Amino acid sequence: MAGVVLRNVSKSYGNVTVIPDLSLDIEEGEFVVFVGPSGCGKSTTLRMIAGLEKVSSGQIVISGRDVTWAKPKERDIAMVFQSYALYPHMNVAQNMSFALRLDRRPKAEIEERVRIAADMLELTPYLDRKPKDLSGGQRQRVAMGRSIVRDAYVFLFDEPLSNLDAKLRSTMRTELALLHKKLDRTMIYVTHDQIEAMTMADRIVIMKDGLIQQVGTPKDVYNAPVNTFVATFIGSPSMTLVPAELSEDNGQLHVQGAGFKLPVPDRLKDTANRATGRQVTLGLRPEHFAAEARSDAFAPIDLKVKVAEYIGSSQFLAADMGGQDITAAVEVGPEADRMSDGQYFFDTSRLYLFDSNSGEAL
Ligand SMILES: Nc1ncnc2c1ncn2[C@@H]1O[C@H](COP(=O)(O)OP(=O)(O)OP(=O)(O)O)[C@@H](O)[C@H]1O
Ligand SMILES: [Mg+2]
Repeated sequence: MAGVVLRNVSKSYGNVTVIPDLSLDIEEGEFVVFVGPSGCGKSTTLRMIAGLEKVSSGQIVISGRDVTWAKPKERDIAMVFQSYALYPHMNVAQNMSFALRLDRRPKAEIEERVRIAADMLELTPYLDRKPKDLSGGQRQRVAMGRSIVRDAYVFLFDEPLSNLDAKLRSTMRTELALLHKKLDRTMIYVTHDQIEAMTMADRIVIMKDGLIQQVGTPKDVYNAPVNTFVATFIGSPSMTLVPAELSEDNGQLHVQGAGFKLPVPDRLKDTANRATGRQVTLGLRPEHFAAEARSDAFAPIDLKVKVAEYIGSSQFLAADMGGQDITAAVEVGPEADRMSDGQYFFDTSRLYLFDSNSGEAL
């Protein structure tokens, strides 16, 4: 069943159009992450779902009910904002129960809900503490607790982890994923961090300039990006794009350019055949480079290594391939010295081809 449906939703401020035309079906219980660069319209879309921002046109349906013109309160949603403010004079339990007390819910129900939410968020030992006596991560969980106690149909999160340090963010990601499992509710989560999107989402919605570029599982968007924007946005370090040409010799289709000539893999043969002789863009993910050929699909490429970053189990190389800057991430043991100029290998079964003009995947 459809949990949240956006039908041809648009949003303009005066004569500035922020969201031209957005349609999306989110399943009940799904964890959907909106991701895209700053200013692409993620928060605006979320705020329209929440009813904090009016749509300019289109329709929003939540749980089968048209809520396009409904007030936020009437939408059965709970939202966690990027900048949350806890009430400093209230303890954790009071902060979490604030909305329920405003609603004049029975005391026993309030206590029960706070107890359950605190248990889920591992805040039980801190219920009597004031926010100033908590760590950043604990405060963040209290902010989440405030919305969880409300047991809404849809939970909306707008970059709720952006104030936390890297380690805490990663812990909270795991906790959020667990929370989604426990609550079994529809969740829509906004971030500009593709790692956050990849790790938590059932499906990712990738946006640019108010337009959806691609909707798919983390696997879909990584393995089959529809265009160069998605291809370079998803994956870390980013995919390198280089100009190339398709040519055929001795019945074998190749993609070639400065410093490389690689066989086109079977999965791309049909489309590449139609593009023979055309200028294309070749996409190479750093992680598909290797120090040795691990199968027949690996083809040699000479690299001049400018900088080798030692990560531990692998090294990130900023390198030159026939005059082009590329990034490679080669797995070599922690004992290996910094990698230097020489022959490397690329897994050609994983290469990507795009139309140079449109940027669309071939
Ligand atoms: N009240 C407003 N009037 C005019 N333009 C606005 C208004 N609010 C937002 N915008 C514009 O709408 C666009 C989308 O903003 P939005 O906040 O949705 O972006 P975002 O994807 O959430 O970005 P970020 O990652 O920086 O939070 C931006 O270009 C912004 O300048
Ligand atoms: Mg935003």
